[in-house]
Amino acid sequence: MLVLDGKIAAAAVKASLQAQTAALAASGKRAPHLAAILVGNNGASETYVASKVKNCEETGFISSLIRLDEKVSEEILLETIQKLNNDNTVDGILVQLPLPKHISDQKVIEAIDPKKDVDGFHPVNVGKLVQGLETFIPATPYGIMLLLEHFNIDTKGKHAVVVGRSNIVGRPMSILLSSNVNKGNCTVTICHSHTPNIESFCKDADILVAALGKPGFITANMVKPGAVIIDVGITRVADATTKSGFRIKGDVAYNEVAAVASAITPVPGGVGLMTIAGLLKNTMQAYLQHA
Ligand code: GUN
Repeated sequence: MLVLDGKIAAAAVKASLQAQTAALAASGKRAPHLAAILVGNNGASETYVASKVKNCEETGFISSLIRLDEKVSEEILLETIQKLNNDNTVDGILVQLPLPKHISDQKVIEAIDPKKDVDGFHPVNVGKLVQGLETFIPATPYGIMLLLEHFNIDTKGKHAVVVGRSNIVGRPMSILLSSNVNKGNCTVTICHSHTPNIESFCKDADILVAALGKPGFITANMVKPGAVIIDVGITRVADATTKSGFRIKGDVAYNEVAAVASAITPVPGGVGLMTIAGLLKNTMQAYLQHA
């Protein structure tokens, strides 16, 4: 059984970007610059954004973190995005989701210049992804494709089952796995909350991507022996034995599923780290396209 270690694969991506950034510096060019906007104080979002900023710095990128109060108006947030759109020293913009209820996620996503949309959430970029055109691939599905590449997982002609149909993970993941690209060319099934007998679809998967946000949902009886398991879940569950009072749990019951799978991502230390690798690659791409 192969552990698809995100630390190893993400380190390889980062090392290559570090070398590229060092070469830019050696030729007198500035580094790529990511601007992240965080609204409010959601604990999980704080952790993710801090990690994105830290990884930018470790890669030699410039990062700006713009923090806005939980009660900030939608208008001020849209104005902040507009300023970043017009700032030639900023290559990539991301607004951490979820946003407070009084702000429309969709308006915010559509306010970001598609050329700086390193999350790949803007409808223009989603449209390009669907048509197989070059674009920013949403960071988590991109990271998963990079992970499959790093460990040279065979995908061509395989049955991939994606559980979850979110715009951030499930839907773009299903498009990539079915596309005629490296580590694509799968036959893809998407399962969601209205799918009857999810177990039977999962059991038929050669590659199973669990992205539904229900800790421990995928159990060994739902997995075909020898399947490749990608666990996207990162739910915080209470754990009095840890300093923080919680631990991160994936959508897959790791120990029992690892016993039947041929390869599996750990949580933490799997897909989460690859999401950041995908974001860093998108930021470099944005830089190269307009610098
Ligand atoms: N919230 C959960 N995942 C993501 C992501 O990939 N990007 C942003 N901006 N917010 C998220």
